[in-house]
Amino acid sequence: MIIIKSEQEIQLMRESGKVTGYILKELEDFIKPGISTKQINDHVEKIITDNGMIPTFKGYQGYPAAVCASINEEVVHGIPDEKRILQEGDIISIDIGSTHKGYVSDAARTYAVGKISEENQKLIDTAKAGFFAALEYCKPGCRLSDIGHAVQTTVEAEGYGVVRELVGHGVGRQMHEDPQIPNYGRSGHGPRLAAGMVFAIEPMITMGTYKVVTLKDGWTVVTLDGKPAAHYENTVVINEGEPELLTLYSEV
Ligand code: MF3
Ligand code: CO
Repeated sequence: MIIIKSEQEIQLMRESGKVTGYILKELEDFIKPGISTKQINDHVEKIITDNGMIPTFKGYQGYPAAVCASINEEVVHGIPDEKRILQEGDIISIDIGSTHKGYVSDAARTYAVGKISEENQKLIDTAKAGFFAALEYCKPGCRLSDIGHAVQTTVEAEGYGVVRELVGHGVGRQMHEDPQIPNYGRSGHGPRLAAGMVFAIEPMITMGTYKVVTLKDGWTVVTLDGKPAAHYENTVVINEGEPELLTLYSEV
């Protein structure tokens, strides 16, 4: 069942999303060669808790950290580690959840570490483009599968892969609510979208094969061929008019 949120609930999610979005923006300066993924985790966790919020991921199904930090061929769910030091040319995906008064916001970006290759930059840009293509269909009357179809056609047109095994999702009191939102598929299927639905839409895309495997740590998802991956996610409210992005930092 897709839960429709009230305006009061959306206001709490907005406050939550503001912190998550601010942190993702702030990391653009924080992430540089020589820092560890543990330092990123601790920096993010401090901002979340300083704002009176809870790092949603910590303890989720036993997950041991506040953020997911996934380098290069790691797609998602990389565990922060003081021994993982960022190198010039790496790309790193950071996924963050903040819980505010019981309501979750969930968002991710992929960052360049120092100077990166043009190929990697284009991969990062295409994950974002996939998200914004999908956003065009985040309107009442559109069908759920229009979202995945828009992501897939946008991403595959650039020659990249779309990860199948991990999906976007409804978000609210729980980080993972109905519906599941694949980043691929035919258009025109599934439930019709309605105002008050809140979704975490999150293309995960790859330079090579879309196939992924989970490492022995039980969390880290990597590409099967070792080629790099990128991730772009926002928490999105469906409105009668334009959708609202709760986790996209804005100056105003
Ligand atoms: N943010 C991820 C998602 O979008 C989930 C993180 S998994 C966790 O679904 F265990 F780290 F919380
Ligand atoms: Co998510």
